[in-house]
Amino acid sequence: GHLRELDGASERLTLYKGDLMDYESLREAIMGCDGVVHTASPVTDDPEQMVEPAVIGTKNVIVAAAEAKVRRVVFTSSIGAVTMDPNRGPDVVVDESCWSDLEFCKSTKNWYCYGKAVAEKAACAEAKERGVDLVVINPVLVLGPLLQSTINASIIHILKYLTGSAKTYANSVQAYVHVKDVALAHVLVLETPSASGRYLCAESVLHRGDVVEILAKFFPEYNVPTKCSDEVNPRVKPYKFSNQKLKDLGLEFTPVKQCLYETVKSLQEKGHLPVPPPPEDSVRIQG
Ligand SMILES: NC(=O)c1ccc[n+]([C@@H]2O[C@H](COP(=O)([O-])OP(=O)(O)OC[C@H]3O[C@@H](n4cnc5c(N)ncnc54)[C@H](OP(=O)(O)O)[C@@H]3O)[C@@H](O)[C@H]2O)c1
Repeated sequence: GHLRELDGASERLTLYKGDLMDYESLREAIMGCDGVVHTASPVTDDPEQMVEPAVIGTKNVIVAAAEAKVRRVVFTSSIGAVTMDPNRGPDVVVDESCWSDLEFCKSTKNWYCYGKAVAEKAACAEAKERGVDLVVINPVLVLGPLLQSTINASIIHILKYLTGSAKTYANSVQAYVHVKDVALAHVLVLETPSASGRYLCAESVLHRGDVVEILAKFFPEYNVPTKCSDEVNPRVKPYKFSNQKLKDLGLEFTPVKQCLYETVKSLQEKGHLPVPPPPEDSVRIQG
């Protein structure tokens, strides 16, 4: 439904039903295309649901793209294929040269990161073998307004701080980016002939403490947690990263505060988050 509401959809959008594990369904959708943006993937830490569809499905897309002789394929990978490396030093600037350590992903049961990293490697190998022009986007946690009526994993990351389901915040850091910037990144690499390799798509890295502070300032009407679950260890520091490659293509990243604000507003507008009455103080001030 939400896809048919996009601007120009009635004239320019054709929907095909596809399953990553069903090669024929992909072939049918891709045949006759100039470019392919491969974004579909399971998003779960269940190894059985995650790894095979991500890896086999991605290979299927590359094979179908080769058969259809498309000009370029853009694959949506993830920061999960980049940063999961216990041996990376604290001063290393995370960029497109970094890869997650597959053994570490496995031993920590980070099956989503494992699946995305293996899928990205498989996509590169398959593309090289079949002469497919492949460019990869590695987004960090995606925020911003929702198009669809359902809630995905990255939105729950924020929603839990507003519904009261998270009583504390973790002593950890996370990188964020606006969904419109991720979409534009895909368009830019699809349309820029010289684009190649991987593109790290990130605006900021924040500690959870910073996230809850921003949320509480914008939305004081919610009981956003104020305590860290880890009161023993020092506060984890944000890692350094470079998004220069996408900036060089002309992308101007939306500030993370705006991403957080727009996410919550959208959750309210779509009915996922009740809007409490304003606190008594603000009523008195207005009166
Ligand atoms: N959200 C983030 O923070 C984030 C960050 C980095 C990278 N990514 C990547 O961005 C992409 C989209 O993620 P999202 O957050 O939008 O996740 P999402 O809301 O869970 O969307 C995933 C999409 O993949 C489709 N899909 C899953 N398994 C499939 C299969 N076997 N065959 C065909 N389609 C299948 C789903 O279709 P149904 O709706 O029919 O199930 C859904 O439309 C994924 O590749 C994800 O790894 C997301």
